[in-house]
Amino acid sequence: MSGSLKGLDIVSIRDFSREQIEQILDVAVKMVPIAKGEEKSTELEGRVLGSLFYEPSTRTRLSFEAAMARLGGRTLGFDEPKGSSVAKGETLADTIRMVDAYSDVIVLRHPQEGAARLAGHFAENPVINAGDGAGQHPTQTLLDLFTIRNEKGGIDGNHVVIVGDLKYGRTVHSLSEALSMFGAELTFVAPPTLQMPKEHVKHIESRGLKPRISNSLDEVIGDADVLYVTRIQKERFPDPAEYQKVAGAFAINRTMLREAKKDLIVMHPLPRVNEIDPDVDDTDHARYFVQAFNGVPEDGASLHGAWGDGMKEFKVTPIRNGTVIDHIDVGMSLKVLRIIGVRGDVSSTVSVLMHVPSKKGAWKDIVKIEDRELDPKELDKVALISPDATINIIRDYNVAEKFVVQVPERVKGIMRCSNPSCITNKNEPVEPEFVVETKKPLALRCSYCDRLTTDIAENIV
Ligand code: NCD
Repeated sequence: MSGSLKGLDIVSIRDFSREQIEQILDVAVKMVPIAKGEEKSTELEGRVLGSLFYEPSTRTRLSFEAAMARLGGRTLGFDEPKGSSVAKGETLADTIRMVDAYSDVIVLRHPQEGAARLAGHFAENPVINAGDGAGQHPTQTLLDLFTIRNEKGGIDGNHVVIVGDLKYGRTVHSLSEALSMFGAELTFVAPPTLQMPKEHVKHIESRGLKPRISNSLDEVIGDADVLYVTRIQKERFPDPAEYQKVAGAFAINRTMLREAKKDLIVMHPLPRVNEIDPDVDDTDHARYFVQAFNGVPEDGASLHGAWGDGMKEFKVTPIRNGTVIDHIDVGMSLKVLRIIGVRGDVSSTVSVLMHVPSKKGAWKDIVKIEDRELDPKELDKVALISPDATINIIRDYNVAEKFVVQVPERVKGIMRCSNPSCITNKNEPVEPEFVVETKKPLALRCSYCDRLTTDIAENIV
């Protein structure tokens, strides 16, 4: 909802940087003993997960429920919409608004692409995409990456062969994009009609990688480190006759794996239908059930991320009047307070949230100042030390104005020159003046002595 402040939505893997993904995977490592029931956790005690599954699921729905239960929280929701008001024609937006009020985080699976993004706009609380049609499945990707990292000691440099329905399979859309962030070598094996959509291939190529496209598993299997097998997504075929043409394509069995590297691992998001013969299950290659277990620690990490590390402080309570400065560069909130002249004596009306997960970047700080709006000079100062900060002006509990601060072209009267010998530092009747030399990183050139100042926060007056 516009103007609201909330935790981290997990909608598309594209919204995340490699660093953010690694942070989530690192949290998942700590979740393993909790997921196994070997360690107790009360981290999410009193928290409620709204679990809305408009499409069938076993692995995804139950691993979120298991993670929530292992972390001391509870789950409500439905596993098929027939028994809910969806059957009466309720819109997704209305269902989301209601469940948002009954829970603290929503996990949504829906047949339409973009459904989770829409839910994120209507929910105050974080929304986690558990699969939107043939779109994305980012939490499956997180557990897939977690599995590859555990089993292969890393992700970079592995040759991952992805086989099956690459057109409609949402898991492989998210996974291939994520793997390209980690510099894995990719081969896509599918019947030509089910190959990876161009849009995804282009995105991967924009990262400097060139995925191999093939319709022969035999040609590539000997060179694979990871074989990621997927189900042909029968339910997404507009024409059942088209499905019949490709049903059963690329089924894996033990004999085919004779050509494989000894340490090849075979993965599958599950459910499998006939793509992996059960005779593969007791080979050293099979990892799909380990992978399914990894959903629990990984979903635990996503739920943990939904509230941020400082979970209790994270919820931003509304204020009646004042200013909320959001998206402050992480670590800069106290400097923001200092440069706009807010000190300890008014602490009762000021709140600071540090190191909060951000939808735009990795982490951010937030400052909330009651009963005060910033003047243009103060806004310029904020822009100089945190150029992506967003100002929300709150009047009578509503966001009356919202804008991103702007670094001014010329900076006058709010900074001193970093050159102690500059004439502007010598009690002359002039205001120091600067021209912006570069914006990222910000560097200002003094109009009097030409000295470049990069240590902006230290020189703001
Ligand atoms: C996948 C899905 O729903 O996209 N399952 C899962 O979440 N583990 C794969 C599939 O249904 O084939």
